[in-house]
Amino acid sequence: MATFDTGPLEDVDVVAASPVHMPKGQRRRRVIVFALLLAVLFCALAAGLVYTVQLQKAQAGLRAALSEKQEENAALQEKNDSLSSENSRLSDELGSEKSQNAALAAENEQLKMQVSLKAANGMTAITDAGQIADNKAKLVALTFDDGPGQYTAELLDFLREHHVRATFFLIGRNAAKYPALIQRMEAEGHAVGNHTQNHARLPRLSADGVKKEIDDCNAVIRAAIGHDAVMLRAPGGNANDTVKAVAKDMGLPLVHWSVDTKDWQSRNTDKIVSAAFAARGGIKDGSVVLMHDIYRTTVDAVKIIVPRLEAQGYTFVTVPELLAARRGGAVAGEVYKNGYPGR
Ligand code: NI
Repeated sequence: MATFDTGPLEDVDVVAASPVHMPKGQRRRRVIVFALLLAVLFCALAAGLVYTVQLQKAQAGLRAALSEKQEENAALQEKNDSLSSENSRLSDELGSEKSQNAALAAENEQLKMQVSLKAANGMTAITDAGQIADNKAKLVALTFDDGPGQYTAELLDFLREHHVRATFFLIGRNAAKYPALIQRMEAEGHAVGNHTQNHARLPRLSADGVKKEIDDCNAVIRAAIGHDAVMLRAPGGNANDTVKAVAKDMGLPLVHWSVDTKDWQSRNTDKIVSAAFAARGGIKDGSVVLMHDIYRTTVDAVKIIVPRLEAQGYTFVTVPELLAARRGGAVAGEVYKNGYPGR
């Protein structure tokens, strides 16, 4: 055998390497392996595809959820904006209400000051008197003597309803029984006057006797409202020089009247009303009207007289207010019968 002849051996090897010339079992194995590889590849591809589709689906779902959330968020933001604008509107309103409250409180303080001025002086503050004079209003001062009595509370109710201020000349021994009524008179803007302790006929008394009659009545008034009467009305309008001198010493102006309704005499409502509106001697601008709040018929007459005077444009004032407006005030010991203009 030739050493270099390796040809057939090479041939055998080449043939063995070629699949065509592969043995049948080996070829089948390779086909199977190849098919398996293909199947695995296909499965992997399919799985990938499915996975991708599912991912996309999930992504779309998330996107939808996201946009839904964004929409919700926008709606909430809008709601928030409208709430905050509502809030600022409310706080503006609150602010304006607060400033209104402050203005009202200031007004209230002013009114309180006027009332305390009134209480301190027993007279309306000077500004009120000035306004009354400037307005050239028709003024009338209703006065009630000899009380308080069983009809006084009813009279006070009526006067309050009609915003009428009047003057009460109290008898000390009656007033001692009704401290609450004296307090009401003061609180409701009426003037409280002195009509002596026992309705004494003063000119018959000594100076000391006159002084005691006035002092005793003042003590009753002071016990109720903390200060003395602001004026004196001598019972029956009887005042001699002694009475005037004592009144001057005690700081009390004397108040008589210009209209006498004679209510104590007639005790008749119609007659009292007629006297109040009589052509001669009836009520006119500046009148001081004499009545007595201890009679049923007088209180009934007041309920007719007041609305009629209101209709005629009268302003109801206390005697101190009337004299402040028309006389620039009242001097102790002097006698005043009216507040007619220009006198
Ligand atoms: Ni009297």
